[in-house]
Amino acid sequence: MHVLAELKTKATNWRKRKLKMNATQEQLKVKFQQAMGAAFGAEYAEVDPILVSTSNPKFGDYQANVSLSLAKKVGQQPRAIASAIIQNLDVTDICEPPEIADPGFINLKLKTAYLQAQLNAIQVDPRLGIAPTKNLKRVIVDYPSPNIAKEMHVGHLRPAVIGDCISRILEFIGDDVIRISHVGDWGTPFGMLIAYLQTEYPEALTTDETLDLGDLSSFYRQAKKRFDTDDEFKEAARQAVVQLQAGDEKTLLAWKIVCQLSSRAYQIIYNLMGIAPFIERGESFYNALLPEVVQELHQLGLLVENQGAKCVFLEGFTNRDGEPLPLIVQKSDGGYNYAATDLAAIRYRVKVDKVQRVIYPVGAEQTNHFAQIFQVARRAGWITDNIEFVHAPFGLVLGEDGQKLKTRSGDAVRLQDLLDGAIAKVRADLERRLQQEERQETEEFVNKVAQVVGISAVKYADLSQNRTSSYIFSYEKMLALQGNTAPYMLYAYARIQGISRKGGINFEQLGENAKVLLQHETEITLAKHILQLDEVISAIEQDLLPNRLCEYLFQLSQKFNLFYDRDRGVRVLEAEEPLRTSRLVLCDLTAKTLKLGLSLLGIEVLERM
Ligand code: ARG
Repeated sequence: MHVLAELKTKATNWRKRKLKMNATQEQLKVKFQQAMGAAFGAEYAEVDPILVSTSNPKFGDYQANVSLSLAKKVGQQPRAIASAIIQNLDVTDICEPPEIADPGFINLKLKTAYLQAQLNAIQVDPRLGIAPTKNLKRVIVDYPSPNIAKEMHVGHLRPAVIGDCISRILEFIGDDVIRISHVGDWGTPFGMLIAYLQTEYPEALTTDETLDLGDLSSFYRQAKKRFDTDDEFKEAARQAVVQLQAGDEKTLLAWKIVCQLSSRAYQIIYNLMGIAPFIERGESFYNALLPEVVQELHQLGLLVENQGAKCVFLEGFTNRDGEPLPLIVQKSDGGYNYAATDLAAIRYRVKVDKVQRVIYPVGAEQTNHFAQIFQVARRAGWITDNIEFVHAPFGLVLGEDGQKLKTRSGDAVRLQDLLDGAIAKVRADLERRLQQEERQETEEFVNKVAQVVGISAVKYADLSQNRTSSYIFSYEKMLALQGNTAPYMLYAYARIQGISRKGGINFEQLGENAKVLLQHETEITLAKHILQLDEVISAIEQDLLPNRLCEYLFQLSQKFNLFYDRDRGVRVLEAEEPLRTSRLVLCDLTAKTLKLGLSLLGIEVLERM
């Protein structure tokens, strides 16, 4: 490969691993390319300067690493190259004079005036200066996709919270996001519920009105109990499955009623959690398309009959004896499975939905499943190089004992109980605090705070962990007022609103000519951090790790606290003009950044708490 071309790909790969560039980096990149062109000839005006954030603020804000990779090609020492670039580099509007660090890194420190101008510019922008991406993509996020023949339990938490957050972020970036819940609404588990409905509520099948079956959780539980203890009922459940798959109309009606009931009960919890609306397109949707999938795989020569089952032999997956593993698409009895349905969904999403990216936030235990269906879909030509299908795996929610979170009787914890527990704890704390402070608040206020803080704490505790790891569910940790928790973040926000109340200031009316003036070190640190939100968001667009945003917001709150600290920071309300207004703008921008960031996590803020 031509050396320059090689350098370009190297840089692209580097960037793929690193973050996408923000507006400042883009500007610097152009300046660097002009300088390289001037120093070494026109063909160098396209080389990537390899700009990255410095690991240590001591060295400035950004560094350009290009001199090192150019050394061989130019035939000079990196240091000499760096100095030739600098001689031709005009970044006086943006940076202090660049410095060279051994062996040839170019360090750049942003000018205070530049930071001030940036802050002034974003002050009145609801997007805080983060422009939507130019190449908009159609993206499907496949979530929360629960199996609805069961009551909602702790296992339903992560797909909902993570899927919702990823969707919000991509939507903010400007993608055309379609949220699709691939609900498990078909198959054997429904036999039990259908049979239960048929025996206990036969009237449900003859009336148009929706029946009130009371508490759905007891419906599930009774059905299960009967299934486990009554052999005749077990047989009826088995028959119901056969009838369902044969398309028997009465059974289909019963199935539909059960699905509607489940969906409605699930929706109540999603509403409580603040999960944005999604389209429900469950497994049953693909039933009619399954024969086509099998047929096409057959025509493509991918399908092999193996012990009566139709399957595709996988590349790179082997059994214990080292033989290639088959992916079963149609069982020997003619039935289809989870994998077949997912293949139909992939094909539909590509051909009908015309997506460019599909994201599956699903538990890590399904890693093989996704690798296998993606492989088959690629070999079938459904997934092409310009379409990205990605499994975004997550770990488990564990109890204090490090095992899957369970109730004392060994069942999965109900999601409703988990959420109610958090809300009740917040309420008890709040009531205690109100009493201590002799504060009077309305019942409405108490309810609102308890709900927002409780739900946020559960969601934040989930999102702030690296998605791929399992974590221990602990009310105590997630409700702590200090540390990387939702309450800490919500307090930081409410505290800033408190400054405006105390000073009788309307942040919205600080005015367009309220200029930011950065003097104190804590102001500069805070300002730089505020301006880094776009880098974090671009990173998440690529690696789908929301914990980056939590970490960013946590640091933002800490930097704000330092800035606002009486001893180590600055005075705000007591400062003289024009510093007072400038600092109020910084307060406001911090609050707006917190609010925007939290909203992308699916968390609502409180003005007071
Ligand atoms: N219903 C599945 C489960 O609960 C998750 C479905 C994920 N989405 C998909 N297209 N496979 O395990």
